[in-house]
Amino acid sequence: MRTQPLAVVIPLLMLVAMSAAQNAGSSSMTAPPPYDQKAVAAGKYNGPGGCAASSCHGSVQPKTTTRIFQNEYTIWIAQDKHAKAFAVLSKPVSERIGRILNIGAPSKAPKCLACHSLYVSAEQQAQTFEPADGVSCENCHGPASGWLGPHTTKDWPHEKSVQLGMYDTRNLEKRSAKCLTCHLGTADKFVDHEMIAAGHPDLTFELGLFTSVMPAHWKMPEQGNPWREVQAWGVGQAVQLRESLNRLARRASGPVWPEYAEIDCSACHHSLTRPEDSWRQERGYTGRRPGNTPWNESRVVVFRDLAAEISPNAAKQLNDEVSQLATLMNQLNGNREQIAASATRTSALADQLVKQLDAQGYDSALTLRLMRRVARDGAAISIEGERSAEQAAMTLDSLFRAYNQNAKPANGAEIRTAIDGLFAQLQDLSAYAAPRFAAQMQRVSDVVGR
Ligand code: HEC
Ligand code: HEC
Ligand code: HEC
Ligand code: HEC
Repeated sequence: MRTQPLAVVIPLLMLVAMSAAQNAGSSSMTAPPPYDQKAVAAGKYNGPGGCAASSCHGSVQPKTTTRIFQNEYTIWIAQDKHAKAFAVLSKPVSERIGRILNIGAPSKAPKCLACHSLYVSAEQQAQTFEPADGVSCENCHGPASGWLGPHTTKDWPHEKSVQLGMYDTRNLEKRSAKCLTCHLGTADKFVDHEMIAAGHPDLTFELGLFTSVMPAHWKMPEQGNPWREVQAWGVGQAVQLRESLNRLARRASGPVWPEYAEIDCSACHHSLTRPEDSWRQERGYTGRRPGNTPWNESRVVVFRDLAAEISPNAAKQLNDEVSQLATLMNQLNGNREQIAASATRTSALADQLVKQLDAQGYDSALTLRLMRRVARDGAAISIEGERSAEQAAMTLDSLFRAYNQNAKPANGAEIRTAIDGLFAQLQDLSAYAAPRFAAQMQRVSDVVGR
């Protein structure tokens, strides 16, 4: 797909970067500005080739002499799934999605490229680059034209790069929001039930777990903070609740409603049993007419436990709003305007908690309390459906990873096995059974203590 081999592109970009860096150090009044002012104003994208030189971010081995390892490109290209995000669009499953949705080849369709590549207009490109690079540096770190040159100078502070257009991925709220533009969607790019029915995976996310699954191209523990992962989980929970409620409000006001992806997937997609064996009939249909589709509450059921631990007052307010929203969502033909308004109000409550969760100090004791609270809540979480169970499993996984690393509990291996047992029940959405999941949560609760 590339018009030029990588080996040719890199030295060329290196030269540009180096001369810009030298200019940055020049004191001459007549010297050109250290960076392209026009490009800064417009925030142009360079493509990942601009970061790939061995003396920039393309070192094969991590460097120990610098604050930055400089092997970020090497890690991304070799290990990070984001580098393969474009290639995925030529898989048979993608081609079939393209046929079903009648959008032509996904590798050329804006509908897909929007999340599977650095998809920006020709005017935003500082030079030509290929969508084939997949999800690359500037998808997360922002357009580089403003800071590419100066940020290579010695002792150049991160904050200055941010002023010049770098996206502040160190800020957990901002980071979360950035990941979610693709892992949850926006007004302009989205995965709805139509796409899911055509073959796209449903989008689920949890910042702590997804960050740990990404091969780290940064120093760990992040910011030297051993509890950073718990902080990331907490902030990520609030941001994803906020963004998912904004999405619900958008959809309730949009052209396609009801949007099935806002409803508990397993309510429609489960296999039926004899009435004697049905755990759903046994559970009953509290708060809705039997057989009505229930709201997919996966992004709030675990968050409620977090809110209750950190801020009981806010948690109470949140619960009140959430139960109003659930009542509306669980009706046949629930009032769309009311749903949108209720979702927007609840989203504002989640937003109020974002800053508090970011500023909150996290430590061993709080992490353990949170694990216990979520595990104890297994019965209530499990009946909200498979997607809620999945959020609980991801949460316990993230909390335990940090706890195990730092507090090194004697029964760490036992806890690990119990948490893995949660994931084992999430392999087949149609076979999901709440009582079985609740029993496994009980096992987790037993090993993490009360
Ligand atoms: C809103 C952003 C978004 C849009 C739009 C989008 N995708 Fe995706 N896609 C993702 C994300 C995020 C994942 C990874 C999901 C995960 O693993 O949690 C993914 C995963 C996939 C996968 C599975 C990947 C694998 O490794 O097997 C396929 C196939 C795919 N997308 C195809 C498409 C096609 C075809 C289109 C256009 C019709 C498209 N996507 C549009 C965000 C998007
Ligand atoms: C999917 C998102 C994503 C992509 C793609 C990505 N990064 Fe990152 N990067 C992050 C996150 C998250 C961090 C950790 C937070 C931080 O330190 O800013 C990070 C950290 C870094 C850091 C350390 C920053 C510091 O001050 O400690 C460097 C350097 C970096 N990335 C360079 C790159 C380069 C070069 C590429 C492309 C080859 C790239 N990143 C691709 C998300 C991404
Ligand atoms: C521009 C869109 C985009 C952004 C921004 C983005 N991702 Fe992704 N991410 C994707 C796509 C598309 C895939 C699927 C790639 C594939 O399957 O090859 C993916 C895959 C992943 C995977 C692999 C999932 C799996 O099933 O193995 C992880 C982990 C991940 N992303 C984490 C993150 C994190 C953390 C951030 C924010 C720091 C982030 N992503 C930001 C689009 C994005
Ligand atoms: C209100 C009921 C309903 C809800 C809720 C729902 N779906 Fe569907 N889904 C359907 C129907 C109806 C079809 C079309 C089935 C057919 O034509 O055979 C479908 C089709 C599908 C298909 C393709 C069919 C197949 O067998 O491969 C997938 C995958 C899918 N849905 C996943 C999901 C996921 C994931 C969620 C939750 C995010 C979800 N659905 C929520 C009703 C629902």
